[in-house]
Amino acid sequence: MNRTVLTGITTTGTPHLGNYVGAIKPAIEASRAKAVRSYYFLADYHALVKNRDPQRLRRSALEIAATWLALGLDTDKATFYRQSDIPEILELTWILTCFTAKGLMNRAHAYKAAVQENTDAGEDQDFAITMGLFCYPILMSADILMFNANEVPVGKDQVQHLEMARDIAQRFNHHYGELFTLPNAVIDEHVAVLPGQDGRKMSKSYDNTIPLWLPEKQLRKAVMKIVTNSLEPGEPKDPDDSTLFAVYAALANEDQREEMRRAYREGIAWGEAKQRTFELVNAELAAPRERYEALIAEPEGIEAVLLKGAERARAEATPFLQQVREAVGIRALA
Ligand code: TRP
Repeated sequence: MNRTVLTGITTTGTPHLGNYVGAIKPAIEASRAKAVRSYYFLADYHALVKNRDPQRLRRSALEIAATWLALGLDTDKATFYRQSDIPEILELTWILTCFTAKGLMNRAHAYKAAVQENTDAGEDQDFAITMGLFCYPILMSADILMFNANEVPVGKDQVQHLEMARDIAQRFNHHYGELFTLPNAVIDEHVAVLPGQDGRKMSKSYDNTIPLWLPEKQLRKAVMKIVTNSLEPGEPKDPDDSTLFAVYAALANEDQREEMRRAYREGIAWGEAKQRTFELVNAELAAPRERYEALIAEPEGIEAVLLKGAERARAEATPFLQQVREAVGIRALA
């Protein structure tokens, strides 16, 4: 079967080292494979669900687009676009909404967690919950079904959304005929979940991230802040119980990793281990950092790339949506 890979990046926040190791780097590598059609997009309508600050919404889209380009996404090969440039996605969202059981949405983890939080706080269960949050999985289904993606690389927290997309597609196909491809979540077990400075998973919600594009000096400071224990220089250290080692290992090649394991067992000082970790991270990011700075300084260039991507995406979305509209009976009368 023809492989079509698609994934969306919600445009909230600033890209950090965890995003790079866990999602961006593997996605860009995968997009280079020959027999694959890939779609990557900025999910700005998804970002709107949680973000009410227009400046930050725009800034995040800019930073994320610049990041993917600086890291070498080949936009001649992959289709790279902004969700909000494809109006067909929202039209499909409504059509799918009319086919989605409310009960299915009631079971969504994110929605249920919000309800639970309200209940725990003694609030009305719907307090501050928007229809955007409630219908989030339908918009995501439209993103995926629009391009007949069969592989969707996502984090574990998104698996339920993929099941919902399949469910919605199946019901639709059953009623109107086989229009949609059933998508599969792809979870790469080999990809490292990077710990943050405090040892928990690196995540914006824990405030323990290392932003990807820190200037060199600040990057060094951020690496120096990674927690270690109180073992002295000369005392053997356990690499498998070290956040610092995990960060190093995520970027190192096999030889470097083995060499560093040995150094830990031989009692490398934490200061030295931090210095080497900084050097490794910095060596990987220095060249793309320069490209990133150049791209960010000229948003017009990024905008042009996204508009070109949108044009390509719409060349597929427009006729496909037409088929869907035909199928449901939204058609010309004559
Ligand atoms: N909800 C996804 C996330 O938060 C982002 C996303 C939006 C997405 N639409 C998508 C991912 C379609 C894969 C496919 O990570």
